Amino acid sequence: MDGNGRWAGRHGLPRVEGHKQGTRSARAIVEECRRIGIKHLTLYAFSHENWSRPKDEIDFLFNLLADFLRGELGTLIRQDIRLNILGEIEALPLSTRKVIQMACYKTRNSRSMDLNLALNYSGRLEIVRACRMIMEEGLDPEDLTPEMFSKYLYTSGQPDPDLIIRTSGEYRISNYLLYQSAYSELYFTDTLWPEFSSDHLHQALESFSQRQRRFGRI
Ligand code: IPE
Ligand code: MG
Repeated sequence: MDGNGRWAGRHGLPRVEGHKQGTRSARAIVEECRRIGIKHLTLYAFSHENWSRPKDEIDFLFNLLADFLRGELGTLIRQDIRLNILGEIEALPLSTRKVIQMACYKTRNSRSMDLNLALNYSGRLEIVRACRMIMEEGLDPEDLTPEMFSKYLYTSGQPDPDLIIRTSGEYRISNYLLYQSAYSELYFTDTLWPEFSSDHLHQALESFSQRQRRFGRI
């Protein structure tokens, strides 16, 4: 979800207004994905690298996230959506963490869709964390397979992403789902996240549906 700050700048608004507007896109996209039957949706909300932003902006983002989850929890429950977190939330402010934990707990039995929020997430750290867990378990190196490795990732039990969408005209992966994206289709759009609507989502899905996925075959 990239381009909030630029959207705000183009409208003569402070960056945080872009983040606010971005939550409207997030709400609309979650709703649309649920409506059309997408089973797993991950939103990259805050990267491990985002800690290098000004403290005011970080504080704003975590307050916004807490407000957003508080406001959406009823809908998530009604819509049978399960909230999962990818990343290290221990580093987040306590008040935000509490809301996150409550929302995850209250939606834990939902099955219609997994909504993953990548928060304080780093693909490299996720892989290192998996290695640490495997080493601590003392697994025989010969027994480790790629499938087994996946079980030590935050996304354990969920399929790899079919499609990854990046908004705002940046052509990078930025440490996102590095292990899981091995065969994901990538879709880049110039649209800034606060302007990314259901129509844009459908354009991305249309493009995805025309891709030939060969997974290494001819
Ligand atoms: C993405 O928008 C939102 C977060 C990282 C939380 P940006 O804040 O990166 O917006 P730009 O890239 O500065 O436009
Ligand atoms: Mg950005």
